Amino acid sequence: MTIDTLTIARPDDWHLHLRDGQALQAVVAATARQFARAIVMPNLKPPVTTVKLALAYRERIELALRAAGVAPGVFTPLMTLYLTDNTVPDDIVQAHESGSVVAVKLYPAGATTNSDAGVTDLLGRCSAVLETMQRVGMPLLIHGEVADQTIDIFDREAVFIERVMKPLRHAFPELRVVFEHLTTKDGVEYVRDAAGPVAATITAQHLLYNRNAIFQGGVRPHYYCLPILKREAHRVALVQAATSDSARFFLGTDSAPHARGLKEHACGCAGCYTALHAMELYATAFDQAGKLDKLEAFASFRGADFYGVPRNRDVLTLVREPFVIPTELAFGDETIVPLAAGESLPWRMA
Ligand code: NCD
Ligand code: ZN
Repeated sequence: MTIDTLTIARPDDWHLHLRDGQALQAVVAATARQFARAIVMPNLKPPVTTVKLALAYRERIELALRAAGVAPGVFTPLMTLYLTDNTVPDDIVQAHESGSVVAVKLYPAGATTNSDAGVTDLLGRCSAVLETMQRVGMPLLIHGEVADQTIDIFDREAVFIERVMKPLRHAFPELRVVFEHLTTKDGVEYVRDAAGPVAATITAQHLLYNRNAIFQGGVRPHYYCLPILKREAHRVALVQAATSDSARFFLGTDSAPHARGLKEHACGCAGCYTALHAMELYATAFDQAGKLDKLEAFASFRGADFYGVPRNRDVLTLVREPFVIPTELAFGDETIVPLAAGESLPWRMA
């Protein structure tokens, strides 16, 4: 029997880039349309390193929501701090007490967009901070790739597990960890089998595409994100994990908007823009796997359970009707190209 209508509890996005200024204004309503809450990444320029900066950023997001016509209470941004070599335990205590800052993000220095201020030596520089996070139960959200340029780009996640993740979790076994935007079979096996409070987010692009998508008929910059798409065996492992009954895998779009000109460039930025059609993309991936019945747990339950917040009570309905993805969208004074622009998806939001 084919399902043509799917009503699920309203989902949350546990990994999102909203940017700032004009870009924030251009994208925020798309996320609020589909998701009740989102974990907002702190990799602004300069990065969001203190509770004061996070609360000011939260205010700007609230203003952008109102300006976009989103009613109060429809969407809640959950704020994060950007971990640096100079973060101190008191920053964590303040975050914990703020009620608005719910997690801390680790970018290895140089690993991805706006990560220059990231951590150079996690256990060497951040042990006191990690100790405090473990004590107060503050999750560490990890961009799990080594920044070591001598390591092949397709191996950087697997090497990170050995060089950083395992020593970190050995030193802080009760630290709550989210392995963000997981992209490999190695990562799936690690998260699935590890002892202690570990989870992972998975993007729509990593469920739908393998690395061939970046090179189909020529170079396709809008399929370039970090961690980069991997080979098919990894995609299959990610689909298995997302559609499994493990509570450890949940939705995080990593929607990462960059203006068209910065993607179609001699040195193009990493990031796929998926906030427009995130649930359409995820529904397509789950449908292809014959696992639409697992979408609600992945999109709406497990992340909330991991973060210890109530599950959403309102609903979102998807219908099996073609959704043609626009070829570009307004993005302040520029434009942005959504993932899979111009293609048609079999599902749309009702
Ligand atoms: C993100 C961005 O543009 O901020 N890019 C990406 O490719 N995912 C950064 C990140 O999450 O790595
Ligand atoms: Zn990201």
